[in-house]
Amino acid sequence: MDLEQEYVLQNYARYPLVLARGKGCHIYDVEGRRYLDFISGIGVNALGHAHPRILKVLREQAGLMIHCSNLYYHQYQGRLAKRLAEMTGLNRTFFANTGSEAMEGALKMAKSHGRAINPAKYEIVALENSFHGRTLGALSVTGQAKYRQDFEPLLPSVKFVAPNDEAGLEQAISGVTAGVVLEMIQGEGGICPLNPSFVQKARELASLFHALVIADETQCGVGRPGTYFAYQRSSPPALPDIVVAAKPVACGLPLGFIVANSKAAAAIRPGMHGSTFGGGPLACRVALEFLDILDELLPAIQRVGGYFHVSLNELARKHGFVKEVRGFGLMLGVDLAMPGKQIVLDAMAEGLLINCTHDTVLRFLPPYIVTEKEVDQAVKIVGKLFARI
Ligand SMILES: Cc1ncc(COP(=O)(O)O)c(C=O)c1O
Repeated sequence: MDLEQEYVLQNYARYPLVLARGKGCHIYDVEGRRYLDFISGIGVNALGHAHPRILKVLREQAGLMIHCSNLYYHQYQGRLAKRLAEMTGLNRTFFANTGSEAMEGALKMAKSHGRAINPAKYEIVALENSFHGRTLGALSVTGQAKYRQDFEPLLPSVKFVAPNDEAGLEQAISGVTAGVVLEMIQGEGGICPLNPSFVQKARELASLFHALVIADETQCGVGRPGTYFAYQRSSPPALPDIVVAAKPVACGLPLGFIVANSKAAAAIRPGMHGSTFGGGPLACRVALEFLDILDELLPAIQRVGGYFHVSLNELARKHGFVKEVRGFGLMLGVDLAMPGKQIVLDAMAEGLLINCTHDTVLRFLPPYIVTEKEVDQAVKIVGKLFARI
């Protein structure tokens, strides 16, 4: 901690905890203290820690080839892209490393798509309270002043609409709109799902004006909501043109992707986009293994997520300062009438890792392997802390 204080850029407000290793849903600090991990590296460690099947393919592939660049083919990128096409209903993938990088690719796709129709068709419609990453393009469509203000002016021609404001969408989307960016469950914004009718409206207007719908599923996608993607929760789903995802897809290795339909994919031709590390053999092979396991886990995510939601609601009924419990599957938030930071610190002292987003929302993103018993343990700790307030 002292070395970081002296030598590392002071951009993170870290908790005073040095972690060393993990197993399943538990993680241990350097002194050997055990914590129940209900934040999973902010939604990354989908299978918890040291999952035997992930370890096996990691070890095997690391001994064969970690990286070969996108100058050449390897055996896993095409297979993974096929898998993602089957999962999304879209047909072409670009591999990146992070959510922000994937978002940049999606924005470039939308801009190039618009420009091919009309050079003045470059506007992006995005949502207030959203978060899409820290790079300049992703920041430009992020609808929260605290992330943007020190870096303005950002990309011009981004219009922001309040989430679930259908009339606002009607005003904002027009013939000069190239893309409409939707974070299906706003994560950093406080676990706020978009209404299905709002998503449907965005889809209809985008189709009418030949704009692309970009679903940012970086935090809420790839199994976490109990379906592959959050946009698939409504039936029939409003299919986006581009899906952006990252966090859990390679269980802790950096891997992000965009999957696009033919219309959107046609906007990127050879030489127009790329990434040195994106889609390497190690990350792709781990992702393939993860997706096999995910198919087996989806019913459990729905079941345990539902149980967790009910348990948090029971807690909410006992404490007047809980305003709302929100979310789906294993992406849940408890909105409080006061800041949640101290509760996060107190939970850590009790052996539970969670975090607080949007100042007042306790955020729970446990690994997909979490059990009802572990949910009971976490809820018991939160209940104990609430009772002290
Ligand atoms: C919805 C969403 N989009 C994009 C990002 C950026 O992802 P990354 O930090 O991997 O660049 C995040 C990160 O939290 C996110 O939640």
